Amino acid sequence: MQPTDDATPQQPPAAPRPNTTRETHTYPRLQVPLFGTEYLDYAKRQLFARHPDYLPTLVRLMDVHPGMTAVDVHCGAGFYTRLIASRLQGEGHVVGIDPDPVLLTHAQQQTIIEGWEEVLALRQGYATALPLPDGIADLVFANSVLWVLPQDQRVQAVREMRRVTRVGGRVLVAEPDGGLVHIYDEQRPELQELETRVHEAFVRGTLALDGDDYQIGRKLPTIFQAAGFERVRVFPRLFVVAGCDLGDDPKQGLLDRITEYQQALAALLNTAPEAQARRAHRAERLRAGGLSDADIARHQELTIARLKDLTEQPQRILQDTSVYMYGGLFCMGYRT
Ligand SMILES: C[S@@+](CC[C@H](N)C(=O)[O-])C[C@H]1O[C@@H](n2cnc3c(N)ncnc32)[C@H](O)[C@@H]1O
Repeated sequence: MQPTDDATPQQPPAAPRPNTTRETHTYPRLQVPLFGTEYLDYAKRQLFARHPDYLPTLVRLMDVHPGMTAVDVHCGAGFYTRLIASRLQGEGHVVGIDPDPVLLTHAQQQTIIEGWEEVLALRQGYATALPLPDGIADLVFANSVLWVLPQDQRVQAVREMRRVTRVGGRVLVAEPDGGLVHIYDEQRPELQELETRVHEAFVRGTLALDGDDYQIGRKLPTIFQAAGFERVRVFPRLFVVAGCDLGDDPKQGLLDRITEYQQALAALLNTAPEAQARRAHRAERLRAGGLSDADIARHQELTIARLKDLTEQPQRILQDTSVYMYGGLFCMGYRT
């Protein structure tokens, strides 16, 4: 339906990940757009544009001070690593760690472009065996990481984050929770009902076929305790978007919405083999989650009709009262 967080299953649709080897600590490059730099950049642009309060909330929870040592676990293209670097004011260090050399190369290029080399280092490594000594970090951060790790690696990953944290330091993990997705569309009751079932089926199917757990948010305290944390706090990570809410600059907001809907429509109508493969990959997860082929086809039909309606008559966007809520959790573990 509407927007995406950097971890929600909604949009853009999941791409096939044929080369992913989950059993090993290294794996070939994942296929975009689900995890590539293009997707990570897109997801963050959309997240921050739609939710201007999100970044200040995150920065407050991170509480980065000059002189700190921080670690960004599975940093991807390094957006949050650079955010931490920017808060160090030239004093201290942040290390970004990721197993994917392609993402690390992108992260390195951006580090140089933005001028953070003196405080930011990047290393190849995997969350369950961080290439760092014990007790060096004041803050260990991980955004949208645990939900894609194999289930039997999640506690070990947080145990590693705890190991590299000094006594008095903190581990902050931000993850999605698929149970926090709510869709309301009074103008399109059939689509609303189907959309809800599609979401639930996708969450179930992805867990069954890929082991990716969109409902990991609620499990974080369990994982943190199993990893050895005695003091744990959780904070909400909630987002809400109304179709007709065009932000502080409604003219620009409307143009952005039209572009977004046009792109979503083009993706659904695209007959190129990779677009078809993406849809087939998604449909496979929906079927595994219990949705029938008839429901999948009807959902697609209604979604296309909605997007055509909104792009062909943009004034309909102003009247679109649909509301999409989604979210997750921040979990903080204190190293005592
Ligand atoms: C959703 S991305 C988040 C990246 C970064 N923390 C951010 O917020 O931009 C997940 C990261 O986990 C890494 N990763 C490690 N093992 C993975 C796996 N089995 N499946 C998917 N991603 C994996 C990827 O390289 C990627 O950088």
